[in-house]
This record gives sequence, structure tokens and C-alpha cells, in this order.
Amino acid sequence: MPETMTAIRIENPGPDYRLLPATVARPAPGPGEVLIKVAAAGVNRADIAQARGVYPPPPGAPATLGLEIAGSIAALGDGVTGHHIGEQVCALLTGGGYAEYCVAALECLLPIPKGVPLIEAAALPEVHFTVWTNLMDAARLKPGESVLIHGGSSGIGTAAIQLCAALGHTVFATAGSAEKCRACEELGAARAINYREEDFVEAVKSATGGKGVNVILDMVGGDYIEKNFRALAVGGRLVNIAFQGGMKAEVNFGLMLMKRLSFLATTLRGRPNAEKALIRDALAKTVWPLIGAGRIKPVIDRILPLSQAQDAHARMTGSGHIGKILLTA
Ligand SMILES: NC(=O)c1ccc[n+]([C@@H]2O[C@H](COP(=O)([O-])OP(=O)(O)OC[C@H]3O[C@@H](n4cnc5c(N)ncnc54)[C@H](OP(=O)(O)O)[C@@H]3O)[C@@H](O)[C@H]2O)c1
Repeated sequence: MPETMTAIRIENPGPDYRLLPATVARPAPGPGEVLIKVAAAGVNRADIAQARGVYPPPPGAPATLGLEIAGSIAALGDGVTGHHIGEQVCALLTGGGYAEYCVAALECLLPIPKGVPLIEAAALPEVHFTVWTNLMDAARLKPGESVLIHGGSSGIGTAAIQLCAALGHTVFATAGSAEKCRACEELGAARAINYREEDFVEAVKSATGGKGVNVILDMVGGDYIEKNFRALAVGGRLVNIAFQGGMKAEVNFGLMLMKRLSFLATTLRGRPNAEKALIRDALAKTVWPLIGAGRIKPVIDRILPLSQAQDAHARMTGSGHIGKILLTA
């Protein structure tokens, strides 16, 4: 196996960053880790923030971008059992996926679901770890409850809509164009709301007989915080995974008191592996069988070669995409 490999290097981190292929040392797996020959890596909005220099990797994480991959195990770290060289897997990473090889912790490995091509499996880990832990662990979504997914056409949104619909929840979604709204409804949303043309609070209220929804998954924040409180039913839970619309807002928290609401926010990347393993186990038990049965599909916007990582970021920054953008190594 070569001692070096190609990986994407961030030149000039900041607003005018460039992503360029570079020859770097191949990483070596430590105890409890495997080396993976990458077939494809998923692109995430966090990668753009990292390249712009506003989202540093957590301590100990590789500086190379890339939070998820699919590929084949190329080497086993000391003491690793239950896996073999050549085994096809997908994995959640703390970084390092934009490369020919990367290292993954055993706690973050999952098999390739039945019927999913190896490359497309790179679209699965980040969205499903995030959606599951936020909707199920944080927001405690219960059978029969209704859900509003903001950013329904995003990588995260397309996974969340499909999961909630497959589990029998009534799903509402927001998206920024008629085409994106159509995609959300095709994925299982009962109603998609074009937030550029319609007030989502009014739309959700009128679709639920004035009650509101039980759970909201939000990536916008800012002035959506109070609007979300208004769109929630009594006892509702709001969970934020990003604040693209602003970290600061003037909010009437009286609504939380009166409606007995919960407001939560989480990130995934910096969590200990033991915590990620619990999410991985829940995915293997509940979500991977739904993917294997074709009830949940990876939604792929486009697949580009690793050398075009810059174009992949431009596509995501322009927000023209529906679903995931992948890079093939
Ligand atoms: N906390 C965590 O652990 C965690 C993990 C993964 C991802 N995330 C975050 O989750 C978000 C989605 O990630 P991704 O990789 O799936 O990115 P993505 O595909 O680029 O999604 C971003 C989405 O935000 C939507 N959006 C922006 N403003 C909106 C608004 N006012 N109302 C409704 N939707 C709006 C965009 O929709 P339009 O184009 O239609 O405006 C787009 O679909 C990102 O912010 C990411 O940082 C957080």
C-alpha cells in the first residue's frame, strides 16, 4: 500500500478559500480504528464553514475536510476484531474524508445497506446520525406525532422527511422554491411550504386545525425561533442543529411558558465515540432496515470527482441542490 495519498488541501482558509488536491502522508489506524480506502465522501455545509475558517475541527480531528465516507477497509488497527480487509462500510468521521484513504473509529462504522450502491452510501452517515439523535434522543419524537422539518430539500431535510414518513408521522417541510417543495412532497411530506412565498406558521396552523406541530427540526434560527414557538403545539419540542439565519434574536419566551415548550440545540461532531456508538446501534436497528427495504433512499444531487471539491462547495453555497453532493476518490 502506498505511504502517500491524494487529499484535498485548504489553501488560504477564509472567505476566498481554495480546495486543491495535494500529496500527503497516508494516515495509519490506531487501536479501535480501521483504515478505509475511500470510494466517495459526502459534502456537508459544515465543510464550507471549516474552509472559511469559522468552524475549526474538534481537538484530535484531522484537519482535512470530510465528515462521512463509504469505501472498503484497507487495514485494521491493533486489536480490531469482527471486521476484515476488503469489507465495504460507510462511516461517520470527525474529518479526513476528502482523501483517498481515511481512518474511522469502530463506533462510527455501519454496513452498506442492502441495495445501495457503495458510492451512494457516502450520503448516509452524517444525515442519519444527525436526524436520529435530534428527533429521537433530543426531541423525544413519539409515535403518531407531527413534525415540521425546515430546509426540507437539504441533505439533512431529505433524510428527515423520509424517516418521519416511513415511521408514520405527519410531516411538514419548508423549502425555498416550488421545485424543492415538490421534491419534499415526493419524499413523503404531507405539505411543503415555500417559505419565500408563504408564512409557515399560518400554513402549519391551518393544516393542523390550529393546534400546531409536536416537533420542529430547525437549521435556520434567528427570527425562526419565535415563529417556531408559535407553530408548535402545547408540549411541543424545538430542536436546532444550526442557526443559519442568526445566532441572536429577540424572542417572546412567554410562549414557552404558556405552551410548556422545550427548546434544544445539539452538535454531533465533538461527541465522544461511546455516544456516537449508541446512535450507530439505533440506526442499525431501525433505519438501515428501512433503507434496505427501499423505504428510505439516499437523495443524491450530484456526484463529482474529488479534484472538483471546489465546484461541489460552490454548488452547495449556491443552494441550487436537492439532497446530497458526493465526491468520488
Ligand atoms: N448540529 C449538527 O450536528 C449538524 C449536523 C449536520 C448538519 N448540520 C447543519 O444542518 C444544516 C443542513 O446541513 P446540510 O449539509 O444538509 O446542508 P444543505 O444541504 O446545504 O442545507 C442547507 C439548507 O438550509 C435551507 N435554508 C436556508 N435558509 C432557510 C430558511 N429561511 N427557511 C428554510 N430553509 C432554509 C436551505 O434551503 P433553501 O435553499 O431552499 O433556502 C438548504 O436546504 C446546515 O446548517 C448544517 O450546518 C448540523
